[in-house]
Amino acid sequence: MKGPLACRRKGPLRGTISVPGDKSVSHRALLFGALATGETRVTGLLDAGDVHSTRGAVEALGATVRTEGAELVVVPPERLREPSDVIDCGNSGTSLRLLTGVLSGVPGLSVLTGDASLRKRPVRRVIEPLRRMGANLSARDGDRLPPVVVRGGPLRGTSHLLEVASAQVKSAILLAGLFAEGETRVTEPERSRDHTERMLSGMGVPVRVDGLTVSVGPGRPRGGRVDVPGDISSGAFFLCGAAALPGSEVTVRGLGVNPTRAGLLDVLRAMGAGVSLAGEREVAGEPRADVTVRAAELRGTEIRGPIIPRLIDELPVVMVMATQARGRTVIRDAKELRVKESDRLAAMGETLARAGARIELLDDGCVIEGPTRLRGVEVATRLDHRIAMSMAVAQLLANGEEVVLDDVACVATSFPSFFELLDELSFRGAR
Ligand code: S3P
Repeated sequence: MKGPLACRRKGPLRGTISVPGDKSVSHRALLFGALATGETRVTGLLDAGDVHSTRGAVEALGATVRTEGAELVVVPPERLREPSDVIDCGNSGTSLRLLTGVLSGVPGLSVLTGDASLRKRPVRRVIEPLRRMGANLSARDGDRLPPVVVRGGPLRGTSHLLEVASAQVKSAILLAGLFAEGETRVTEPERSRDHTERMLSGMGVPVRVDGLTVSVGPGRPRGGRVDVPGDISSGAFFLCGAAALPGSEVTVRGLGVNPTRAGLLDVLRAMGAGVSLAGEREVAGEPRADVTVRAAELRGTEIRGPIIPRLIDELPVVMVMATQARGRTVIRDAKELRVKESDRLAAMGETLARAGARIELLDDGCVIEGPTRLRGVEVATRLDHRIAMSMAVAQLLANGEEVVLDDVACVATSFPSFFELLDELSFRGAR
């Protein structure tokens, strides 16, 4: 789906669905599979633009990726090789940052770039620590922005203290650490998602976790099996929509509920939504469950501190939900939202205000007073899938008025079937 789209659905949302595979886990399955000594078989891989970018990159580095029935098989090369062309990461920050770490240890020259959104996203946060490991890197605008040029070579293990909790930066350093001599150690200010640690361990790499510090030594994953859980960041649109729309009840089957990702469930509970988990299990090192959310009278809450990295990608749709909650919702410590696929604080703040929300923007968050009935609005999606999907949910709360998204091509980066699933749930709700 490309170009503008007028949304005019009606709630409530009702039904049971599955959502596509987790984007973070999917990137890592391809990338770690390409680094491995043996093959990796992946089920449930996300089939969407961002993951296609990582697939293209690992193929350019010599891996073979093929489909066998329901499995995707990653066959690594003997050693990753210098790519013969620029690597285009499209819209995907995870591809670009994780690859920067890997390529720092691969002899040869690599150039990483991306679309207009990605070329505005900061890369100094990976360049500086990787340089301290001996990597030879540079980037546009005084090492601030992509494209990134990497000349891979010998690396040394080093200790790093991160200023921001970022799984992409942590992972880039740990991946470079696999190529380095000695131990590489990363300490974060708060815990960010730990899919890298879990998957590397599952593939036989000794990863030590001590509080907020993660260490690895040189080594190669052995490959293996990865079963990708449903992406809670995709499920979030329906769970938040269901919480806010009277009469709704939505179950998402097989949803990833890794504690470093499941901050949204805490917020839904704190706001008074009905939340229940069934069939909790761990598959291939990642916890998952069937998650049900029922509508309720929501109340405002405070979202700040260590929970922020546990729900960073869900905050745009949490902002939408908060417009329906009684009282104040305060979001703080979320400055990172300003450097995602767009400045999500500015984008959501400005768009929700035009839709009738009472919202005050802060440097690192916002204050929302509710409940307010939203109105129809025209939305600039700014090459940002989560702005588009959040405002499609906002439309359900706009009393039948139309929300026009100026370009929905971006939704295909993470969730190509989003509008169909939204139709399915709102159609069932309408009967
Ligand atoms: C991701 C980490 C997060 C998140 C992004 C995916 C990852 O960014 O926002 O969508 O897969 O590592 P940070 O690097 O800021 O944690």
